[in-house]
Amino acid sequence: MRHNSLVASVLALAGTPTVHAILRFSCSELVTERLDPLVFPGVAPSPHLHQIVGGNMFNTTMDPNRHNIGEEATCTTCTFSEDFSNYWTATLFFRARNGSFIRVPQRPNIGFEQARGGGMTVYYTATYQNDKPKAFAPGFRMIVGNPTYRTAAEAARYRQLTFTCLETMYTRTGETTDMPKQPCKEGIMANVRFPTCWDGKTLDPPDHSSHVAYPTSGTFESGGPCPASHPVKIPQLFYEVIWDTRRFNDRSLWPEDGSQPFVWSYGDYTGYGTHGDYVFGWKGDSLQRAMDANCDGPTCAQLKSQSIAAANQCRVDKHVAENVDGWLSELPGAMPITGPQPGSGSGNPNPGNGGGGGNPGGGNSGGGCQVAKWGQCGGQGWTGCTTCAAGSTCRAQNQWYSQCL
Ligand SMILES: *[C@@H]1O[C@H](CO)[C@@H](O)[C@H](O)[C@H]1NC(C)=O
Ligand SMILES: *[C@@H]1O[C@H](CO)[C@@H](O)[C@H](O)[C@H]1NC(C)=O
Repeated sequence: MRHNSLVASVLALAGTPTVHAILRFSCSELVTERLDPLVFPGVAPSPHLHQIVGGNMFNTTMDPNRHNIGEEATCTTCTFSEDFSNYWTATLFFRARNGSFIRVPQRPNIGFEQARGGGMTVYYTATYQNDKPKAFAPGFRMIVGNPTYRTAAEAARYRQLTFTCLETMYTRTGETTDMPKQPCKEGIMANVRFPTCWDGKTLDPPDHSSHVAYPTSGTFESGGPCPASHPVKIPQLFYEVIWDTRRFNDRSLWPEDGSQPFVWSYGDYTGYGTHGDYVFGWKGDSLQRAMDANCDGPTCAQLKSQSIAAANQCRVDKHVAENVDGWLSELPGAMPITGPQPGSGSGNPNPGNGGGGGNPGGGNSGGGCQVAKWGQCGGQGWTGCTTCAAGSTCRAQNQWYSQCL
């Protein structure tokens, strides 16, 4: 009943679908730590904190030439027990008036209340239009979003990375591309929808994203066509992550200038840098079977399932020994905050001067500037400082982002 009403509201948002085919399931927390095997393979700790769900092959390095995660993993925190994929996002922090940070816990979605650590809800939508997508191939990986973005114009390069201010646990309207500016009674839901067109051959390009694209017109939901460069329709992968802001909703705890107090682990108050990562790891052809069968909801006759209690048993040991809970004097990894922030006029963010005060990674390219370790030092459109602090070197991560490492 609850599930049906939720799916109905999701579908209502999407227009009028002809087919009901949305795999929707719970994945409990696997581990929360500073690792990023896609962008920083082998780097432990990586620059910013992530929360990770899924299979127990998650590791500091996940060799892109090893395509058998689905066969080698032995457990998963997801309720479809053949899904050993890994799914991750950044984590959210509350910053108190005294400058200290504390990690905002995650909250399970409705219907998945037992999920350890809140985890996330994962959706694979086969179609809204009666055509069958091709399931991801072994070795497939992708990233959507860019943690360096701090403006609406940048964020517009990715459609459908949004936030929902939860008035109730059922709120599914009023999505914004930046962080809610008012307290959200039941929490903030981060919505991460990936592109749905694939070039048909590349499993994981160096930038982890150019092999996928959005429809040329309309949306996946409206049946928009894939571009000729990316002709293969893939399922729409979608994460919902609910951040439990309830204990921080008292405005007297918020910054004196009335701006919102939540900052992402990659140093972003705006939310425009929201991003999600995916490493495919379904066993055999299980995902294709589910897509072909138009499976809907948290059960699917074509797939093996486990209870949330069983999924909660799957864990990996932390690879990075670091405390990320309790009050912290800085974000994990001393991640600098960049862009509009409390005190910088963030009620009316001005990207022109937002990177100013107190920001070791910002400043401009005027003489003598220096970017702190882990800060951005280059990339397409970058006009900031390009000199790294002693002990670090500016390295290109992709065409948009170079970082002092
Ligand atoms: C993770 O990587 C380490 C070092 O490469 C390796 O010893 C370990 O077995 C890996 N763990 C898993 C689960 O693959
Ligand atoms: C900062 O403020 C928080 C919330 O009021 C409080 O719990 C914490 O102890 C304070 N930290 C310091 C270092 O004063």
